[in-house]
Amino acid sequence: MVDNKKRVFWHFTFKDILTILCSAAIPIALAIYTAIGSQQQKEQDEKKQKFDLEQSTQLRQQTLYDEFLNNIFKLDYYGYLKERKNPWAFANAYYRAADRQWDTIRKADVLKFLKEKHLIGRNNCTEGCKTTNLDDIIRLNELNLDNVHLASQTGVLNKLNLQCVSFDQVSMSNAIFSFASLNGASFDGAQLDKAKFDGSSLLCASFNSVNLSGADFTNSDLTGAKFSNSDMSGAKITKDQIKQAYFHNVIMPNGEKSENTSSITTKKSTTQITTTSIGQ
Ligand SMILES: *[C@@H]1O[C@H](CO)[C@@H](O)[C@H](O)[C@H]1NC(C)=O
Ligand SMILES: *[C@@H]1O[C@H](CO)[C@@H](O)[C@H](O)[C@H]1NC(C)=O
Ligand SMILES: *[C@@H]1O[C@H](CO)[C@@H](O)[C@H](O)[C@H]1NC(C)=O
Repeated sequence: MVDNKKRVFWHFTFKDILTILCSAAIPIALAIYTAIGSQQQKEQDEKKQKFDLEQSTQLRQQTLYDEFLNNIFKLDYYGYLKERKNPWAFANAYYRAADRQWDTIRKADVLKFLKEKHLIGRNNCTEGCKTTNLDDIIRLNELNLDNVHLASQTGVLNKLNLQCVSFDQVSMSNAIFSFASLNGASFDGAQLDKAKFDGSSLLCASFNSVNLSGADFTNSDLTGAKFSNSDMSGAKITKDQIKQAYFHNVIMPNGEKSENTSSITTKKSTTQITTTSIGQ
């Protein structure tokens, strides 16, 4: 009898608990669990979709790049890159059409390729300034090369050779040049706001009518570089670098217009001093 009562009591209590659990807690827990589950599933699906998209985009970029190399080879093979084909209309039309479809990684790779194959920067600028006068086969003017990162593969060890390349009228906002040799390169009429020249060499480089606002010349050699009619407001450039280069009608980093300041003037006065001392 006592046992029975106990069992009933226990039974009720257990039933009560079960009822409470069943009516409230478990469905809520289940609902939460399901919600978490489907959210996770959704996130997984989205991740996979994003991954697939990235994979196919990468594959497409690689195909475009490979096709480009293939077609440049064909153009070369059939003589379209020969000197007598100047202004190389076919090669340029093809390059421009392809360039519109590349991402910034491919754009940088193609620039390196073009330089290696002597299709751009054909002049001799080993000593800094141009010593020859050859037209570039591929013209870069009016192209959009914003955000490209042109870097030497070996860093300080070997500079990326972009000597004498004409980047005239090219849009290169936020571009980064790391350990590049840009000796004799020209950027006339280019947009280079917030561009960064890191550990690069810019001997004899020309910047005429260039927007260089916020540009950064960290650790770069500006000996004999010419800046004219340009906006350099907010640019990062050291006093020593300012002494290395030549400035005419430039809005300087501090917002002031430059008088003619130049390394040429400095050199002249050095020569004069030397002459005077020899004369004495
Ligand atoms: C480039 O110019 C330098 C200096 O004038 C010269 O020593 C060098 O041989 C030239 N290189 C080529 C490939 O013409
Ligand atoms: C230079 O470019 C910056 C950023 O695009 C722009 O705000 C500024 O007005 C430009 N300066 C000139 C002189 O065009
Ligand atoms: C500054 O240099 C430019 C270009 O060489 C020249 O045309 C101009 O007369 C010079 N201005 C002054 C004030 O020396």
